[in-house]
Amino acid sequence: MSLAGRSLIRVDDFSAAEMQHVLNVAETMHQRLHERQTMLAGSILATAFFEPSTRTRLSFESAMQRLGGGVIGFADATTSSAVKGETLADTARIIESYADVIVMRHPLEGSVKVAADYASKPVINAGDGGHQHPTQTLTDLFTIQRARGDLNGLQIGLCGDLRFGRTVHSLLAALGHYQVKVLCIAPPSLQLPERYRPPGVEVEQVQRVEDVLPDLDVLYVTRIQRERFPDASEYEAVKGSYRIDAALLEQSKPELLVMHPLPRVDEIAYNVDPDRRAAYFGQAAYGVPVRMALLALLLDAESSAGVPGPAPLAQPVEHHPRCPNPDCANRVEGYTEPQMLLVGPHQRRCLYCDLELTVG
Ligand code: NCD
Repeated sequence: MSLAGRSLIRVDDFSAAEMQHVLNVAETMHQRLHERQTMLAGSILATAFFEPSTRTRLSFESAMQRLGGGVIGFADATTSSAVKGETLADTARIIESYADVIVMRHPLEGSVKVAADYASKPVINAGDGGHQHPTQTLTDLFTIQRARGDLNGLQIGLCGDLRFGRTVHSLLAALGHYQVKVLCIAPPSLQLPERYRPPGVEVEQVQRVEDVLPDLDVLYVTRIQRERFPDASEYEAVKGSYRIDAALLEQSKPELLVMHPLPRVDEIAYNVDPDRRAAYFGQAAYGVPVRMALLALLLDAESSAGVPGPAPLAQPVEHHPRCPNPDCANRVEGYTEPQMLLVGPHQRRCLYCDLELTVG
């Protein structure tokens, strides 16, 4: 199985070996970052961003241009035909006739899967609501591997908004491939939803950073995702819950990695920036070589021959009921077919948004 022509919608679309292969190619891209490369000359990337972005969109565009390819797209959904009522399926079918690969970000969970289901070209998920953000995860893994060599044996603290933070959901799915201990540091209302807890990973929930900081190898901080709260008062109750600053870091290991997908609001103080433990700006920069590797592999300019692909789904899929999650693309885009994985006699898991529900 080759990565050429495939889409990346959720972390488990790629096997552990394929993820590592992307990271290995990213290492080569990183070494050659300032060489003029032409391996994607003649190819076009379309960026379709229905939500704000700085790093993800610009690092994809930079990656494509560094490999000699061209870029088209929009960064403001109000300038696309979505405002006229165009469906995601039609938008995807039109964009793919103008480009060779599509990168999409959209507020609905499962929205980028809809685009991939209707397009025949590779589609990359740059964030689908509060669900997943798999290319951020590749960047996060690359950052940890470059600093620490290996993830196995590490204690990783995930801090902040674990409920709506899509970068954390994807990262956790990937951590299932390693022997790590995960500490979920969040107030009770922002703790990790059960559906994002990967099987086989040791996960402990705590509320205070101070309680676990001395043991951590990685502290992955996230912004509280204000835009995803159904109710503003719920956000007001938890905003500012965490603030990592230089004084707090005195309790941590000297080789701790403080990571953040960015943008930060107030959860990491500026006085952490000069500390050698601050890894977040380097992490953002690694988005370019990682996305260069991904584009080169999906567009068949780099080989993935011999790398084993993911196992096929073990359980059957049923095409009812429609997903009840109001933020799921299957619910909102009425023409999409429900795709429910049979995870138990009465348990179903929506393949768009991962919601688990009981039927019958
Ligand atoms: C994140 C996102 O969009 O999910 N940003 C990013 O892509 N680096 C994190 C966030 O918005 O908080």
